[in-house]
Amino acid sequence: MAGLFITFEGLDGSGKSTQLERVASNLERRGIDHIVTREPGGTPFADLLRELFLRREAAQVDGVVELMLVFASRRQHLIEVIEPAVAAGAVVLCDRFTDSTYAYQGGGRGVSRGVIAEADRLATSCRAPDRTLFFELSPEEAQRRRRGGAADRIDRESLAFYRQVHEAYDRRIAAEPERFRVIDATASIDDVARAVEAALGDLLRPLSQAAGA
Ligand code: TMP
Repeated sequence: MAGLFITFEGLDGSGKSTQLERVASNLERRGIDHIVTREPGGTPFADLLRELFLRREAAQVDGVVELMLVFASRRQHLIEVIEPAVAAGAVVLCDRFTDSTYAYQGGGRGVSRGVIAEADRLATSCRAPDRTLFFELSPEEAQRRRRGGAADRIDRESLAFYRQVHEAYDRRIAAEPERFRVIDATASIDDVARAVEAALGDLLRPLSQAAGA
């Protein structure tokens, strides 16, 4: 039986990575085969691209150059890690995927949706996750939460940039409501974790039963 491909999306500071770790611990406890990975990155080569991508020295990077870097990383990650794991029946928990490109390079940098779709066709044949959790937080609150943390090249972008990123996410969710589950990220970590569990229950329950958990 094929596994599942589940992605976690949201603004920097939305708490999605903490929640991803929680889901991984739950799967571990229930004996469900899974992997945790992230984008950009996820393979040794893709991690090198990630490092380049996030370096603060590279402040002036063109949006299409960013697009090509994230899709180069994504294709390698998909071929080397994600598809083999799904084919082997594992649950892949991935921190960001192509929705981030529509949000950041599309909304944030202004790269057109047509260009992104074309790159997506070339790099991934438009591979879509089975489910995507979007951690909803206002750009203002996300910025407040990011203060004090170590800021990479993208974290340092303006509030106006993050407003555009947020709007682009909203357009993705409106276009594919059946794939997305929107989680209120303003709640406490435990309440958000409960909402995440509810949002994945229908997909994970059959696997729990198969694992005898
Ligand atoms: P992270 O901090 O959630 O690991 O993500 C790294 C940064 O990369 C984050 O600010 C969002 C950005 N990013 C893009 O701009 N485009 C993409 O396609 C991806 C996957 C991430």
